[in-house]
Amino acid sequence: MAEPLLGPASFWTQANALLRKNLTFQKRNIWTNIRLISFPFVLCLLLLLLQSLVNNILNTATFKCGCQCIDTNGDGQCEKVCGIQYSTINQVATCPILNPPKWPPLLQIPAPQYRAVKTDFIPFNDLPDHSCRRTGSCPATILFTGNNQSFGKFLVRNMVPNYSTLNSSDVLVSLAQNVQGSASRPTLYNLLEPAFFSDQPVYKVQRRCTNISSISVAIQESSMTIQQDVSCARGSPLWRNSSSAVNDELYKGYWKGNPERQINEIVTGYDFLNTNYNSFNVSIWYNSTYKNESGKEFISLVRVGRSMNLASNAYIQLLLGPATTMLFEFVKEMPKPETEWRLDFASILGALFFTWVVIQLFPVVFTDLVYEKEQKLRIMMKMHGLGDGPYWLISYAYFLSLSSIYMLCFVIFGSVIGLKFFTMNDFSIQFVFYFIYINLQISLAFLAAAFFSNVKTARVVGYICVFGTGLLGGFLFQFLIEDTSFPRGWIIVMELYPGFSLYRGLYEFSQYSFTGNYMGTHGMQWGDLSDSENGMKEILIIMVVEWLVVLFVAYYIDQVASSVSGKSPMFLYERFRKKHPSSFQRPSLQRQGSKVSVQMEKPDVSQESEKVEQLLLEPRTDYAIICDNLKKVYPGRDGNPEKFAVRGLSLALPLGECFGMLGPNGAGKTSFISMMIGLTKPTTGTAYVQGLDIRTHMDGIYTRIGVCPQHDLLWETLTGREHLLFYGRLKNLKGSALTQAVEESLKSVNLFYGGVADKQAGKYSGGMKRRLSVAVSLIGDPKVVYMDEPSTGLDPASRNNLWNVVKHAKKDRAIILTTHSMEEAEVLCDRLGIFVDGSLQCIGNPKELKARYGGSYVFTITTSSTYEDEVENMVQRLSPGAKRIYHISGTQKFELPKHEVKIADVFQAVENAKCRFTVLAWGLAGTTLEDVFIKVAHGVQAFNVRGVKSNQVYQGIGPTHPENRYGN
Ligand SMILES: *[C@@H]1O[C@H](CO)[C@@H](O)[C@H](O)[C@H]1NC(C)=O
Ligand SMILES: *[C@@H]1O[C@H](CO)[C@@H](O)[C@H](O)[C@H]1NC(C)=O
Ligand SMILES: *[C@@H]1O[C@H](CO)[C@@H](O)[C@H](O)[C@H]1NC(C)=O
Ligand SMILES: *[C@@H]1O[C@H](CO)[C@@H](O)[C@H](O)[C@H]1NC(C)=O
Repeated sequence: MAEPLLGPASFWTQANALLRKNLTFQKRNIWTNIRLISFPFVLCLLLLLLQSLVNNILNTATFKCGCQCIDTNGDGQCEKVCGIQYSTINQVATCPILNPPKWPPLLQIPAPQYRAVKTDFIPFNDLPDHSCRRTGSCPATILFTGNNQSFGKFLVRNMVPNYSTLNSSDVLVSLAQNVQGSASRPTLYNLLEPAFFSDQPVYKVQRRCTNISSISVAIQESSMTIQQDVSCARGSPLWRNSSSAVNDELYKGYWKGNPERQINEIVTGYDFLNTNYNSFNVSIWYNSTYKNESGKEFISLVRVGRSMNLASNAYIQLLLGPATTMLFEFVKEMPKPETEWRLDFASILGALFFTWVVIQLFPVVFTDLVYEKEQKLRIMMKMHGLGDGPYWLISYAYFLSLSSIYMLCFVIFGSVIGLKFFTMNDFSIQFVFYFIYINLQISLAFLAAAFFSNVKTARVVGYICVFGTGLLGGFLFQFLIEDTSFPRGWIIVMELYPGFSLYRGLYEFSQYSFTGNYMGTHGMQWGDLSDSENGMKEILIIMVVEWLVVLFVAYYIDQVASSVSGKSPMFLYERFRKKHPSSFQRPSLQRQGSKVSVQMEKPDVSQESEKVEQLLLEPRTDYAIICDNLKKVYPGRDGNPEKFAVRGLSLALPLGECFGMLGPNGAGKTSFISMMIGLTKPTTGTAYVQGLDIRTHMDGIYTRIGVCPQHDLLWETLTGREHLLFYGRLKNLKGSALTQAVEESLKSVNLFYGGVADKQAGKYSGGMKRRLSVAVSLIGDPKVVYMDEPSTGLDPASRNNLWNVVKHAKKDRAIILTTHSMEEAEVLCDRLGIFVDGSLQCIGNPKELKARYGGSYVFTITTSSTYEDEVENMVQRLSPGAKRIYHISGTQKFELPKHEVKIADVFQAVENAKCRFTVLAWGLAGTTLEDVFIKVAHGVQAFNVRGVKSNQVYQGIGPTHPENRYGN
């Protein structure tokens, strides 16, 4: 493995590695993807089904113009004729009306009970008394004004005839010649004039009504005969001094929904302005409240026409004499061809359904991002050298293509099955709209992912967003859009929420396709963007701006929040400042704080920190790791004191050394490793990995280290080989070198044979995952490797295998290894440090430590309990300094100082004892590393708690030797 040292992978190499990993990952999730893409398919099919169902119903004879078989030409055979007269009420609407009936023009006049009378709040005496309302004889008031009162009065005299007669032989003409009015409401279409189809009479308006009895006329119109009552209404024109007086009176008579207030309605108001013999100039007040439910005001114009005709007739008669009239003969609706019912479901339900379809992608992208965060895979990738740039580029491009493919499938499928929603609207608008939206959505997912670290929560929140947005859009936002009185500014504000801007866009598409389909024209075109009611232009602008802003903010927050090298919120500012050379300092000058670590009788530890001092002054390349008084303090919370996780650790590690870190749980080992791999920032002090400072150059360090974390950080669906390929590529391995390295690595951790390498990591046993993690940490020849309890959960065979791998690997690199297995530490480590309570208690190679802290044999003997005293005497004779450390029902354990006893003497003594009493079993052992560990750990503990009950605190620390108890 004497390969040349690989430089850090370039941007594109990293991007390539990540892309390939993502593609493989996606291939594994093929079923999830198919389910995802089939969702819009299912919805489209559902719409199609509904549509064809509705079409089936509408296409039946019930909703088509009625027909009958009638012998029209008398040849004895019947021909099919269709028309209104053969239709039921459901069918009429679709029939052709080629020759709509003519209706006499009518005035809109108030019903008798609302006609203007004298009241307290209208100061005019020319109005009739209130009592007329009881008899229904109130006059229909017409107000007029103008610059010349006498001229106005001349005009008005001609307007309302004194009396009128109806010629029953030609009713229509005589109705037109007189002035007719109705209190009924006009409708959207004037095919049937409602005045002739209501209970209310038609009023003939004249100066005097002799009697108010009604007569009845019959109107014959296009094969219909209508019987209609006609009663008399007295027309009463009243002069007002100014137009503001007219205005005032009209306003005061307006009911305005207040039932307390008396209603005083008038017919029309005329302002003759400067009309004289040479010019005719008039403005007319009319009641525009007579509108149809659809809100289209021009409907009432049908009846305004007659009041205009009245004024102009009066003027002409004034000029040319009473015989001259412009006859306003009739009102006629436009002819109508045969139509058919068309209901486009995709357009009606589209906005709601398709909002769901499009926004569905959000939780997918969102949970993917949170998954990588929750599983710490992002950190893991970063620790193996994946930079932020490639990560963002590839993740973004990857989600964008995923979304694009999804949307493309959706639109193509919808168009293929012929949903008008897609086919009617211009495809380029649809493309632009969807493209901008999915970009916005992905940026939003990145932003949201910064605030979540749990996939389940993220998924729930994501789907609540999906359904909430759809429902709020459909049942709140849409009403607000359609309510023309709702301020448009607030609509824009609501559209700042991307879900609503999506809804608005889809709503506009559906509106255009619906009307386009109904009217038989086209849907939205680019030119329609300038329509005043079309909100598409605004939302396109909103979304583009939002996309850029959100993307920037997401990147910023990602850098600050998830940054492992601890960038401050001002990192952009700092990055700018860094260009100033003055702020750069040499590492040796950066040491801060005075050394106050308590270096009591720990010569090895202080020797190490002297070495560190030395190395800082004269850097040497063969030292891979230099920790300089590294400290980590967690601030006190809830009244608890500060917690010192690491209290000043100095350590220098040359290449080719494996340093074992031993220590009880909670001693601070993991805190130390976290600092070294950049998960947390040191409180004070620092460390240099291959000369790079962990506080400032973590990104550079990541390309040089390998990490085997305590908990396996693996993608469940990727195989072992794929993991190694990915991390290998991140470490800049390429081509055959990569395949060879992966294969060797797999073989070395015994994952190569039996197809294990190509099994998904989720199906591995705990041991296999562990081995894979170790392989991952070693791939690409990193110079520094951290292994956090690499062999936990391994069977003895795999463990030996793994040890061989590590032994082989440590030749040209520095390894820091934490473990609870003394055996492992003894086999693998060149040096050991025992780490208790945040600081190193001793440091040295295993043999030295054993010699220093051991120095005694452990003598175990089992007899029947009656001979216990005799055994004790025997041991005292052998070695006066012996100490009994353990005894229970005849089994005793003694510690014998090495310098006092010879092994031969012990054998002799036991042989002698065997003559006197039965010795069931006995043994003599040198100190193990475990004994050292317990002794050191115990010593610190005893010191810290000042000897109080220290024996109980450490009882049972060595799980393999439960009989080890000290200090009785
Ligand atoms: C008002 O109209 C009358 C005719 O009706 C005319 O004689 C008179 O000059 C007009 N007055 C003004 C100020 O125009
Ligand atoms: C009624 O109308 C018919 C036809 O236009 C006409 O001959 C007749 O004289 C009219 N009768 C009266 C009373 O005007
Ligand atoms: C209208 O004007 C006439 C004459 O200029 C005046 O006598 C009358 O009081 C005015 N009417 C009102 C209601 O102001
Ligand atoms: C206008 O018409 C509406 C509807 O019939 C009526 O309620 C209202 O009072 C009328 N307003 C005036 C000023 O006549």
